[in-house]
Amino acid sequence: MADSSSSPRDEEPAGLNTAVPQTARIWNYWLGGKDNFPVDRQVGDQILEAFPAIVENARASRAFLARAVRYLVGEAGIRQFLDIGTGLPTADNTHQVAQAVAPESRIVYVDNDPIVLVHARALLTSTPEGKTAYIDADLRDPDTILKEAAATLDLTQPVAIMLMGILGHIADDDEARSIVERLLSAVSSGSYLTMNDGTDTSEEVVEAARIWNQSANPTYHLRSPERVARFFDGLELVEPGVVSPPRWRPEPSPSGPPAAIDSYCGVGRKP
Ligand SMILES: C[S@@+](CC[C@H](N)C(=O)[O-])C[C@H]1O[C@@H](n2cnc3c(N)ncnc32)[C@H](O)[C@@H]1O
Repeated sequence: MADSSSSPRDEEPAGLNTAVPQTARIWNYWLGGKDNFPVDRQVGDQILEAFPAIVENARASRAFLARAVRYLVGEAGIRQFLDIGTGLPTADNTHQVAQAVAPESRIVYVDNDPIVLVHARALLTSTPEGKTAYIDADLRDPDTILKEAAATLDLTQPVAIMLMGILGHIADDDEARSIVERLLSAVSSGSYLTMNDGTDTSEEVVEAARIWNQSANPTYHLRSPERVARFFDGLELVEPGVVSPPRWRPEPSPSGPPAAIDSYCGVGRKP
């Protein structure tokens, strides 16, 4: 299926578990996409009721991704991206943002959800000068990801590792940090970590995570902003540091600094 917008809402591609709500499909629902099923919309609506800001949260997270990629390509000179936990294709996918600035950019996408694999062709629309690839793999297996990514990316040159809304799916901080360290150990000096994850910064978001973890797969674990910041230990943080996504290098606005949401993000450079 080349175009994710062409699939009927409730069609069930073979091999997908449409009885259990899945993170990529619920996220797609909140972002206004069509690649989701009744079970996803049901839990998505339950969470919306407890935490109406989730839609704004999802949009602000995608807007941070676009600003971070523009910074990495335009100001930091990055031409290679490893985007793990890609999600379903949407507007402004990493390769579209990067290649709009530098058409020679190479992007490797990774996700382990079968529905993302079904729609992956929409992520492979590279410019002729650049390249995109998709790996069906689990973040918990960074060695496989690195081995397969090396077919597209030159790991002796800087790479931006993107972990957007995925580390919350790894409950244990030590496990999550050791995955991040393994990924960073395989890329050259001058590479970057870009991440964003939900934080336990309001009662509503804590309730939303409780509802999520009752029924959706995989479970999602909110961290404090301080625990999010620890993923950047040993890296040089790009200004303004670890902040809520709307506050990371926002476009200038006459109405002043944007309001924070219940997630934190940052961009760090490997020295
Ligand atoms: C909340 S979505 C975020 C999508 C996208 N990165 C964004 O920011 O819009 C999380 C994505 O991570 C993927 N994911 C969750 N756990 C994973 C794992 N262990 N390995 C690979 N992908 C995973 C899910 O399938 C889903 O597509």
